[in-house]
Amino acid sequence: MPSILFVCLGNICRSPAAEAIMQKMVNQSQMQPHFRLESCGLGGWHVGELPDTRMRKALSQRGIESNSRAMQFKPQFFDHFDLILAADGDVLHSLLRMATTEQDRKKTHLMTKFSKTYENQDIPDPYYGNDDSFEEVLDMLETVCEQMLSVLRGY
Ligand code: 4NP
Repeated sequence: MPSILFVCLGNICRSPAAEAIMQKMVNQSQMQPHFRLESCGLGGWHVGELPDTRMRKALSQRGIESNSRAMQFKPQFFDHFDLILAADGDVLHSLLRMATTEQDRKKTHLMTKFSKTYENQDIPDPYYGNDDSFEEVLDMLETVCEQMLSVLRGY
């Protein structure tokens, strides 16, 4: 059963959206028993908060709900997940700096790792952007999650 941790900077925009989108796709394909999904942020500024209201609104317009509460990344999480997926290259480098073993490093990738369409691209930070920035993130994440599920469901 793959357990996946989505990581961004604040855990109020990109990673809770990735978690919610992936969870919806996993549920729709009756794969819930096979996946465990979580999200967190590198920073602790928003710990305990719901996702940003702009992200919750953009998600709900697509029929997706997220009530996850922000949590900060801890190095112990390397032992608790099979895959640690970073929203962008800066987050990825910070995570890799905290990795202490080759096994930790091997499970740490960009969120776009399994996407043919967006492979190796960053999910751009929408926090200081406008409504279009949130839509762009969700468009990318829907494609990324769909392609990731089709790769991982074969495992
Ligand atoms: P996220 O967006 O990493 O996608 O959750 C951000 C949220 C908050 C901040 C930065 C990025 N912040 O600086 O508080």
